Amino acid sequence: MNWTLAQRAEKMNPSVIREILKVTEKPGIISFAGGLPSPLTFPIDAMREAAERVLRDDGKAALQYAASEGYAPLREWVAQDLLKQGMKVSPDQVLITTGSQQGLDLVAKILIDAGSRILVETPTYLGALQAFTPMEPIAVGVNSDEHGVDAADLRAKVGTGADKARFVYLLPNFQNPTGRTMTEERRAAVAQVAIVSGLPIIEDNPYGDLWFDAPPAPSLSARHPEGSVYLGSFSKILAPGLRLGYVVAPKALYPKLLQAKQAADLHTPSFNQRVVAEVLKDGFIERHVPTIRALYKQQCEAMLAALDREMAGLGLSWNRPVGGMFLWVQLPQGMKAIPLLDKAVAKGVAFVPGSAFYAQEASESTLRLSFVTATVDQINTGMAALAAAIRESL
Ligand SMILES: Cc1ncc(COP(=O)(O)O)c(C=O)c1O
Repeated sequence: MNWTLAQRAEKMNPSVIREILKVTEKPGIISFAGGLPSPLTFPIDAMREAAERVLRDDGKAALQYAASEGYAPLREWVAQDLLKQGMKVSPDQVLITTGSQQGLDLVAKILIDAGSRILVETPTYLGALQAFTPMEPIAVGVNSDEHGVDAADLRAKVGTGADKARFVYLLPNFQNPTGRTMTEERRAAVAQVAIVSGLPIIEDNPYGDLWFDAPPAPSLSARHPEGSVYLGSFSKILAPGLRLGYVVAPKALYPKLLQAKQAADLHTPSFNQRVVAEVLKDGFIERHVPTIRALYKQQCEAMLAALDREMAGLGLSWNRPVGGMFLWVQLPQGMKAIPLLDKAVAKGVAFVPGSAFYAQEASESTLRLSFVTATVDQINTGMAALAAAIRESL
């Protein structure tokens, strides 16, 4: 059979990361490549007890079809939780999604036409590029530095008339892939550009709770509530296998997102939503998330110490994240990450080449390291192996 594919299907690509992960999942490889949270943080006992209570007390509703908007107590919890980000939203603005990845897909469906310009950070989250690409946008990278997108370049790239960007997609906290965080001043400058030019912001914040010493500045959505869509997730604070996230949208946009959600999957699993609402009641997050922060901070410090020790004098540079799961490395001038990965894997260590994360011209000499799934011993051994692979490539 000769299948004639839709143009949008022609544009879909396998995730480069998933392809790389296949190589790196060989037994014995120390992987800094994955984007997975540490399974040590999954609240298995709390989930089991909550699941039993939900099935015992509310089993029929938990196993039935449900409202597309999501389970009301969970929407209320989300609205309440967002106050800490400076966001005052009504539960009616919260749409529970099947992971925040689905939020990206729904946003793409309702805001992008073929040929629409959209603006993204340089680099940006690969999964967002994958969600946006089937809608056939022209994705334009905005210059970015250690503090996120450059506000002047953002202003210059907004465009006008039919060329005006449909939105800018931003990750202000502990960004994937770089681990960068936007400063308060940068947030103010970016929000100002968005407000003055009427540019919608899509704010993606799955890592915001994973700060090490101090919470990040208030969200962009708090500064531009009528012009922002905010995406949140339970993947990094509870468990990704639940596939639970949410979108918060202004009232004017919410009905369209809801229609797209209905068409996609009717609703997010009722059972998972009820179990999580049950887990979350009585302040569980305030007890649980600090344990994740402490673990990730310790692992980040171990990786930074190993980098300082092993990479001294090799001509690399890297950032020092203040939260999240990733850090970003700039290789010495002229060294390319993809051939380096082959050498590194041969020595038993893996990372993700940074080139996967760019909307336009990719930097071939960057790489992303996750510090959360390897143990401190593995971090030390893996970093020595990576330094050996780099020395061989000099
Ligand atoms: C920046 C970013 N956004 C969204 C997601 C999707 O998360 P989920 O669908 O598990 O909520 C991820 C996952 O790694 C991510 O890194």
